[in-house]
Amino acid sequence: MATPHINAEPGDFADTVLMPGDPLRARVIAENYLEDAKEVTNTRNMLGFTGQYRGQAVSVMGSGMGIPSMSIYAFELFNQYQVEKIIRVGTCGGVSPDVAVRDIIIAMGASTDSSVNRTRFGGYDFAAMADYGLLEATVTAARTAALNPRIGNVFSSELFYNPKPAIFEMMKAHGILAVEMEAAGLYGAAAEAGKRAVSVLTVSDHVVTGASTSADERQNSFQDMMKVALEAAVT
Ligand code: HPA
Repeated sequence: MATPHINAEPGDFADTVLMPGDPLRARVIAENYLEDAKEVTNTRNMLGFTGQYRGQAVSVMGSGMGIPSMSIYAFELFNQYQVEKIIRVGTCGGVSPDVAVRDIIIAMGASTDSSVNRTRFGGYDFAAMADYGLLEATVTAARTAALNPRIGNVFSSELFYNPKPAIFEMMKAHGILAVEMEAAGLYGAAAEAGKRAVSVLTVSDHVVTGASTSADERQNSFQDMMKVALEAAVT
């Protein structure tokens, strides 16, 4: 029962799928954080794996970059593979002056310049938000690990290279914590399917101050983020 973009068999995916943007990152997560991980899909090299974490089945699969790519994979996982929960694990650019590189951000809501959620929602504005239970599980996991997560609204941008930097001032004025490229698509797809989603992000750079992280810092915050996502996955 392959779909156009996933060549896994029925039942190959766990109830919960973690989704980094990069498929090779999915492999790194499977090899380093899951036990007995097996590759379950590789169409277009968008690798997906299923293994165990604390004795429970958990899957991990790349989403690709951007709302269209995330929307395709989330749709097929939710609707054709009976996946119940997707936890995006990714990076974002800080926007708020209160956000620093290496911070963990949990996206309670996701604003966007994309029209996909309006298309899904009959032309009206849709408040794209995380599932509350998953949000709470990620916040609890972060606090248990003595991390201080920032929880709020992010902006899922269609353009990484935005020609109008003034857009970041507008975001800042509206309390946007950070910019990334997938959360609004994931939340819209989850709502449409009656399923659950949340996004856990690390701040890799700051789009207003220009601060960025070293490779070591990125690795440490990646580990923090993975701990939060995996504990929430098995809650
Ligand atoms: N823009 C969009 N997505 C991102 C960024 C950014 O600056 N940094 C990390 N992901």
